[in-house]
Amino acid sequence: MQNNACPTKEKEEKKSKKHLGIRDVRFVIAVGSGKGGVGKTTVSTLLALGLKELGYATGLFDLDFYGPNVPLFIGEKKPPMVEGRGNLKPIVVEGVRVMSLGLLLGEGDPIFMRGLMAGKLLQEFTEKVEWGPLDFLILDLPPGTGDIFLTMLDLFEMEGFVLVTTPHKLAISDAARTLAILKEKQVPVLGVVKNMSDLFSEAGEHFEKFINKYKLSLMAEIPVLKSLAQAESVEELLSDQTVMKLVEELGEKISEKVFRIK
Ligand SMILES: Nc1ncnc2c1ncn2[C@@H]1O[C@H](COP(=O)(O)OP(=O)(O)OP(=O)(O)O)[C@@H](O)[C@H]1O
Ligand SMILES: [Mg+2]
Repeated sequence: MQNNACPTKEKEEKKSKKHLGIRDVRFVIAVGSGKGGVGKTTVSTLLALGLKELGYATGLFDLDFYGPNVPLFIGEKKPPMVEGRGNLKPIVVEGVRVMSLGLLLGEGDPIFMRGLMAGKLLQEFTEKVEWGPLDFLILDLPPGTGDIFLTMLDLFEMEGFVLVTTPHKLAISDAARTLAILKEKQVPVLGVVKNMSDLFSEAGEHFEKFINKYKLSLMAEIPVLKSLAQAESVEELLSDQTVMKLVEELGEKISEKVFRIK
């Protein structure tokens, strides 16, 4: 059958997504789920660290404006530098460039934001951050497929999506909804991270069925680890050999996938 898609228009649309502060970023990878609290921030951070370990210039962009907790997870709270025209320079943690709304807010400051404000803020924030040249930019998404998620799909030309879920029925059900949107928007799913994989073994059945049904590739399994719940800094996190191995594994898996596509 003849392909009636207009290639020029498609190209222009893609190009227009590069007008932002990410023009010097080679690959944008989004990390999301459907459900809250399944480990998106954890996986985004480990992944960013893994890619940096492999020698790639890497950034981590916290897009969870309702609960911007990357700073808390990495144990860094220094504010970003504000340059001319109000542009923001990411802070650097263990060699990874990091930006989060949480770096601009005081601890416990309330965040009042209605749906549409979040999408607008994402656009403005994205334009203001000066990432500089990066090989990878990891987007840590908020839970759900609301305004931030949808605006993100419009704003970023993405290399792919990493889906995070726990093995539980409810988390998987929400992940499947997210997959449906990604399919419609033609965003490739690079793989699934099964987090808290050992929490209840009977939940494993749901997970197996899920990845078989959607023909997903399993990127990593992360058991419940005390250090992931309690480490006060990235340094402390990386001193756990199990975490370090996961960091390496995630970095390798993603770079393999991305460079195989290229
Ligand atoms: N494998 C794990 N072992 C132990 N604790 C974990 C693990 N994964 C995540 N956690 C902890 O569970 C909590 C939720 O994880 P995280 O913040 O990464 O989830 P999230 O999906 O980003 O949540 P949100 O939807 O609120 O953004 C955090 O306190 C984190 O430290
Ligand atoms: Mg999070």
